[in-house]
Amino acid sequence: MKALVLCGGSGTRLRPLSRTMPKQLIPVAGRPVLLHVLQNLRELGVEEIGVIVGDWREAIEEVLGDGSAFGARVTYIPQQAPLGIAHCVLIAREFLGDDDFVLYLGDTVLTEGVAGIAEEFTSAPTAARIVVQKVSDPRAFGVVETDADGIVTRLVEKPRNPATDLAVVGVYFFTPAIHEAVAAITPSARGEREITDAVQYLVDTGHEVRASVHSGFWRDTGRVGDLLDCNRELLNGLRRSVAGRVDATSEITGDVVVEDGAVVERSRITGPVVIGAGATVRDSHIGPHTAIGAGCVVEAAGITDSILLPGAAVRRVSDVHGSVLARESAAGPAARRLRLTAGRPAWTGAAA
Ligand code: DAU
Repeated sequence: MKALVLCGGSGTRLRPLSRTMPKQLIPVAGRPVLLHVLQNLRELGVEEIGVIVGDWREAIEEVLGDGSAFGARVTYIPQQAPLGIAHCVLIAREFLGDDDFVLYLGDTVLTEGVAGIAEEFTSAPTAARIVVQKVSDPRAFGVVETDADGIVTRLVEKPRNPATDLAVVGVYFFTPAIHEAVAAITPSARGEREITDAVQYLVDTGHEVRASVHSGFWRDTGRVGDLLDCNRELLNGLRRSVAGRVDATSEITGDVVVEDGAVVERSRITGPVVIGAGATVRDSHIGPHTAIGAGCVVEAAGITDSILLPGAAVRRVSDVHGSVLARESAAGPAARRLRLTAGRPAWTGAAA
């Protein structure tokens, strides 16, 4: 089985964070979302991975390279504009050939993976198997209707009045039958070739499509709150490891990772916390549930339940909580409380 991972798109809901990096590369628990995706794909034994890339091609390539570091072979497939998920399948036709494949949205975090569902797909062949999850409000997602046997009868993209609580999570298993479908459909009202329309085409033309319900932790990391949820969840699985330098006056409690080249001085770190490579933490209290990115500088600060993207600096701010600080951003004393809500920074303080 091959994989097609989607890393195009514009990430508008995550602005301003996504102005400095693509949303698929935003780190949660110290690692880009995309690397959590790759880990799940490797668990399926997938070795051939096609990656759809848009404007951020270079940044994505810098992280994935040719895939060999992850035991895979990566082929980059450029998409000129975000013309829809089904459009991605259309332009990947040559790479996919006549193989079965898993289509994986690059901003999807599933902490327990999808190996069990992949097994269902390979052991009981159907034209497609869609991973869904029961949610209380599915209006922001594709929504699936099934019959009593679990066979999909209808799919609707972001319906105002959802008929079920089964949301499409962003992982789909396909046989080559999908190629005729993505070519046959026309763009939706929002100008995209919708994968939900392509799957509906399969259903309407007599193919069997099944849904598998995933019950573990899942987030589409499209919003700041989702990133923080993922960060908390993944940090809970952290194991203590200290490769960087921690001075004798610092106190470390719980599962804390201090990566190579990081320095911790006169500070209290309460896990789970990741302090990224080359970061400096002085006279501060960090954690729990905080990921400090590579090369960050934190001085005389208190930070809980937050993500600092690489190169961010926080100085003399005592209550940073529930925040995501953009790459290379700086926060100083005038910023009493830092919070990024719905992608908009709420602080007005001067840079340190
Ligand atoms: O998160 C799950 C939802 O993902 C599903 O429930 C929906 O049925 C599905 O359409 C999708 O909806 P979104 O509105 O969340 O999709 P988004 O535009 O955020 O794109 C998802 C990923 O695919 C993202 O990593 C960007 C990438 N992408 C998207 C488009 C439209 C591309 O690479 N190219 C594209 O043309």
